[in-house]
Amino acid sequence: MRIDHAGRTYRFKRYPETNNHSLQPISAADELLLSGYQSSKVDKKGTALFHDRFGVLACLLHDDKPQFVSTFMSQQRALGNNLAENKLGPLPGEELGILSKLKASQIGLLRVPKSLELFELYLSQFARMAATADPDKPPVLLAGFMTRHFTPALLKIAERYANSVEQGRAVKKARVLTIGEFKKNTPSPDELIHSITYGERTYQQYYGVFSANHIDYATQFLLEYAEKNDWFGLSASEDTRVVDIACGNGVIGAELMAGRPKARLISFDDLSLATLSANKNLPSKRSRIIWDDGLSQIADDSTDLAITNPPFHFGHETNIEVSLSLFKQAKRVLKPNGQLIIVSNRHLNYTSHLRQLFGSVETLMDNPKFEILRARP
Ligand SMILES: C[S@@+](CC[C@H](N)C(=O)[O-])C[C@H]1O[C@@H](n2cnc3c(N)ncnc32)[C@H](O)[C@@H]1O
Repeated sequence: MRIDHAGRTYRFKRYPETNNHSLQPISAADELLLSGYQSSKVDKKGTALFHDRFGVLACLLHDDKPQFVSTFMSQQRALGNNLAENKLGPLPGEELGILSKLKASQIGLLRVPKSLELFELYLSQFARMAATADPDKPPVLLAGFMTRHFTPALLKIAERYANSVEQGRAVKKARVLTIGEFKKNTPSPDELIHSITYGERTYQQYYGVFSANHIDYATQFLLEYAEKNDWFGLSASEDTRVVDIACGNGVIGAELMAGRPKARLISFDDLSLATLSANKNLPSKRSRIIWDDGLSQIADDSTDLAITNPPFHFGHETNIEVSLSLFKQAKRVLKPNGQLIIVSNRHLNYTSHLRQLFGSVETLMDNPKFEILRARP
C-alpha cells in the first residue's frame, strides 16, 4: 500500500502477510491519529507510539524519534520490514517493552487494541510517565479507533487514569479520544495482573493475555480428555520434548510438565505479556520460553509432541492464516513418530486444512463446540 506523507511516498506491507487483499496495513483510525498529531502544537520529540501494529506510524514519524512500544514479535518484524522497505534506518527512538518506563514525552498515539485490558496497560504505561512530567507541559494521549469497535468501557477505563477524556467527531467511521490531565498514583503496568486457579495450580497472567478470568474452556476440554485417554503418549520416565505453540500464560505446558519430571518444554507466544506470564508459571529448569511468532528457533525433527489451542483472530479480524502457518511449521519440528495435538472451535474446520499438510489426521474427541485433533507427519 502507498501513502503520501510530508512530501514523500511510503510503501507499507502487513506482516504476517495475508491472502485477504481487503486487509490493509493502515486504517482511517491511523489517518485520524496522524492528522490530530500534525495539528497538535506540543513538542513532538520522543512521541510514544502504542499498538502501531505494522509500524506505519513509526515510519511516518521517523524524524520525531518516536518511542515505539513493542508488544508483539510480529509487530517488531512488521516494523523492521517497513523501515527497510522505505529505506529508513533503524528506529532512532527506543523500542520499548510494555512494562518498561517511557522517557518524558508530551504526546502519545495509541491505536486502540481489541483487548480492553491491553488498552488499560498502555494507558497505565503512559500515565506512569505523565505522573513525573513538567506540570507546565502536561502530556496528552490520542487514542484512535473505528467507531464500530467503540464500547463505553473504553471511556470508563480512560477515566480511571485521566481527568479529561474527550471524544472527537467521527471521520470516515473513525474517532479519536483525547486523554489528558493524567492522574497520579494509578496502577503501574506490572501491577495489572490476574491470578487464575485451575485444579491444584494458580496461574499468574498480565492484563491482555488470553482468557483473563478462567482457563479457556477449550483448553480445559483438551487437558481433561487428553490426560484421561493418555493421548499425549509421553511416558513419565522418558526424556521427551514438547512444544507448546501459542502458549498464552503457559497453562498447557505447565499441566503437562507436572506429571512428567523428565519432559522438556519449549513454549512460545507472539505476545510478550504471554511469555512474561508463562515465565511466572512454568518450572524454570525444564522449560524454555521464547517470545516469537513462529517455530524458527526450534530444530527440525526434534519434538515428540507439539500441542496448541491456536489463535484464530488477528486483532478484530477473524483469520486462520496464522494458525495454518503454525501447523505447517510444527510439521517440520516433529520427529517422524511425533504428533501435533490441537484443540479448536469446531466451526473452524481445521481437519481439511491439516489433511493437505499431514499424512494422518484424526478427530480424537468432539462436543458441540470444540474438537481435539491429532495430526502425524
Ligand atoms: C487461543 S490462545 C491460547 C493460549 C493458551 N495456550 C491457552 O490455552 O490459554 C492463542 C494464543 O496465540 C497467540 N498467538 C497469536 N499469534 C501467534 C503467533 N504467530 N505465534 C505465537 N503465538 C501467537 C496469542 O497471543 C494467544 O496467546
